[in-house]
Amino acid sequence: MSDVPVGGGEPQAPTPAWATSLERREHAQKLKQTRPDPGAPRVLDVDHVSIERGGKLIVDDVSFFIPKGEFVCLCGPNGAGKSTLLKAVMGLLEPTRGKVRIGGEPPERARHKVGYVPQRKSYSMDFPARSVELITAAVRGRWPAHVKPEERERARAVLAKVGGEKLLDKPLAGLSGGETQRVFLARALVTEPALVILDEPTAGVDVSGRAELLRLMVEISRSDELAAILVTHNLGAVAHTAERIVYLEAGRLLGWGLPDELLGQSSLTALAFAGTDHARHRDEE
Ligand SMILES: Nc1ncnc2c1ncn2[C@@H]1O[C@H](COP(=O)(O)OP(=O)(O)OP(=O)(O)O)[C@@H](O)[C@H]1O
Ligand SMILES: [Mg+2]
Repeated sequence: MSDVPVGGGEPQAPTPAWATSLERREHAQKLKQTRPDPGAPRVLDVDHVSIERGGKLIVDDVSFFIPKGEFVCLCGPNGAGKSTLLKAVMGLLEPTRGKVRIGGEPPERARHKVGYVPQRKSYSMDFPARSVELITAAVRGRWPAHVKPEERERARAVLAKVGGEKLLDKPLAGLSGGETQRVFLARALVTEPALVILDEPTAGVDVSGRAELLRLMVEISRSDELAAILVTHNLGAVAHTAERIVYLEAGRLLGWGLPDELLGQSSLTALAFAGTDHARHRDEE
């Protein structure tokens, strides 16, 4: 891809402050606005972030932001720097240059504002944890010896929201890929974050479960005005559900815009088609 970066252009009419995320999305599409309204309230600001590790430049002067309620797909090939950038967003590593702000605060002061859904984990059968404990641990910040009735109710309510109420007392070791991810999604949501980070959350989940999880995440993000970053290789599956795509390659931001716009570009289109196989390959790892 040669023309970098995508979008920018003339400032456009600001989105009305009262708009819901769906209204904002329609408004942006009507304006053919490639980037979010710079005046919209922001959940995440990545401002000229560069990250060096082991003497190598892994993330190279990346800037973008996510307004309240927007569902963003972060994509790019293996080694593009996606996970490294997300570590900086979660305050797990300090950018070499530039800064990250979450709701205007540095990440280390805003950990409670970020929920994280990791790639699917498998549990050893001798680890006797149940979903209710995993979710409660996220609230307490440590593993609970006993779950109090009010904590149990909070875990039940958040599981119900992701369609997993019946999983409350199930041992994690016995859950399917899709069920495990529902429990992890509930764990990410239980602290009522402003931003949820989903790092390839559907890897290891079967095809129908994958579509269902994706639908659920988009629905929750829209209804709760929750900003979300979904990392994926399988761009085809999410392209039209995400409001915007942030595309990284070799540490550089090569695209930031509406899915239709970016999918028209040759290297992204190639990625979208290759993505399915690639994702399948990763799932088998
Ligand atoms: N601690 C480190 N020291 C040196 N190099 C690192 C370190 N962590 C990551 N890298 C390198 O940085 C590059 C980007 O890695 P990163 O994991 O961020 O990519 P990614 O886009 O998440 O890739 P994937 O799609 O495979 O998950 C890779 O070349 C990786 O080898
Ligand atoms: Mg990664």
